[in-house]
Amino acid sequence: MIPRLSAPFDVTDAGALVSGWVRPGGEVAFEAAVAEMTGKRFVLAFPSGRSGFHALIKAMGWQDREIVLPAYTCAVMGNTVLASGNRPRLVDIEDSDFNMGFRALASAVGRDTAAVVATHMYGFPMDLEGLGKVLEGRPEVVVIQDCALALGARYQGRPVWRDGLAVMFSFSLGKHLSTVEGGVMATDDEGLYAAMKDYRDGTHHPAGIVRAARQSAFFMAGWLGLRPWLYSLVHGLTTRTGALGFLSKHYEPNRVYLPPNFRERLPNCLGHLGANQVGKASGLVSRRIEISEAYRRELAGVPGLSWPSPRDGASFSHCPCLIEDRDGFIAFMTGQGIHVGKEVFDYALPDIPLFAPFADGDCLEAKKVARWVALLPNHPGLSDNDVEQVIAATKRWGVL
Ligand SMILES: Cc1ncc(COP(=O)(O)O)c(C=O)c1O
Repeated sequence: MIPRLSAPFDVTDAGALVSGWVRPGGEVAFEAAVAEMTGKRFVLAFPSGRSGFHALIKAMGWQDREIVLPAYTCAVMGNTVLASGNRPRLVDIEDSDFNMGFRALASAVGRDTAAVVATHMYGFPMDLEGLGKVLEGRPEVVVIQDCALALGARYQGRPVWRDGLAVMFSFSLGKHLSTVEGGVMATDDEGLYAAMKDYRDGTHHPAGIVRAARQSAFFMAGWLGLRPWLYSLVHGLTTRTGALGFLSKHYEPNRVYLPPNFRERLPNCLGHLGANQVGKASGLVSRRIEISEAYRRELAGVPGLSWPSPRDGASFSHCPCLIEDRDGFIAFMTGQGIHVGKEVFDYALPDIPLFAPFADGDCLEAKKVARWVALLPNHPGLSDNDVEQVIAATKRWGVL
C-alpha cells in the first residue's frame, strides 16, 4: 500500500536517539538547533506544542480572558486554553486557504481578548499584513503564531514566524520534522522567555525512564511500521480495531483532555533526536512541497475535486483537497492500494460539544472543510513512481 504517512527517520536519527540514552544535554542541543534553524533568539523545548502553549499562557498571566482560535484547528488548542483558565473564541475560516477569515475575526476581537492565534493551517501562510490591519488600534492584543504545521512556510518571502510575540512548533509524528512527541516555544522577547522557562522548570518534572523507553519504542514502530510493506497491517489496525487510537487522541467530547506527559520535560534521547532532525529540515520540507505541487498541477481539472488556493510560500504539511463524496473517494483509492486520509482534522471545533459554546457564529466554512477534506499522501518517503500512481488513480476516479 502507498502510505499517507511516513516517519522521517533514518539511521543517523536512530544513532542520535540511542546516544541520548547515555549522553546528557539533549534538551539544550535541540533548543540550540531550533534557534539556529528559525533565527529566533530564545527557544524552549516541551513534550508537545500544546504544553509549550500552556506555559506561554501562564507566563503571560492570562486568566479568564479570551484567546481567539480558528474554528478549524487542532482540538488540543481549545483544550489547552480551557485548561489554562481562559476561554477560546472560535472564528470561522475561509475555504480558499483554510485560515481564519478577517471579517469574522474583526467582530470576534473584544474587550476580553488577550491573544489571537495565527494558525497557518496545513502550512498555508496566513495573511499577516491583513491580520495586523484587523488588530490596528489594539496593541495590547498579542499575536501567537501556531506553526505546528508550518515549518518552512513563508509570508512575503520571510518565514511566517518572524512576526508575533511567540511561536509554537510541534514535532509529533506526522509533522515535517519529528521527535516522536515534542514541541517548542520560540520568541525574541527575553522577558517572556525567562517567564516561560521559570514556569516550565518549576512545574514540569523529568520524564523518567519509562517515558523514554516508550517513546524510543514508538520511534522504532514509526520508522519501521510506516514502511509500505507493513503499512497495510498498521492501517488496518488503526481503522478497523482502533487499537492505535491513543496515538492520535486529541479530545474527548465533553471534558478537557490533556495527555499524561503534559507537565513533563522532553526526554533527553528525544532532544538528541530533534537536534539531528533539524539538520535535515530543508530537504524534508522541500520534498513535501514538490509532491504537493505536482498533485495540484496534474489534478487541477479533475471533476468533483476542488483545491484550496494558499498564498505563495505554503509548506504543505499535508496536501488537502475538498471532495463532497469523500468517503467514496477514500474507498476507491484504498482499492487502488493508496491511503488517502481524512483523520487529521475531520472535525471543526464547534462540532465538539465541549467547544460549541465558544463558537463565534455558525462557522459554516470550518464545518464544511471538516466534512469534505481529504489528504493525499505527500510525505518525503514517497518515490516519484508512488506520486505518479496517486495521480493516475485520482484521474481514474475523476472519470467514473
Ligand atoms: C494546528 C495545530 N496546532 C497545535 C497542535 C498541537 O501540537 P502538539 O500535538 O505537539 O501538542 C497541532 C498538532 O497536530 C496542530 O496541528
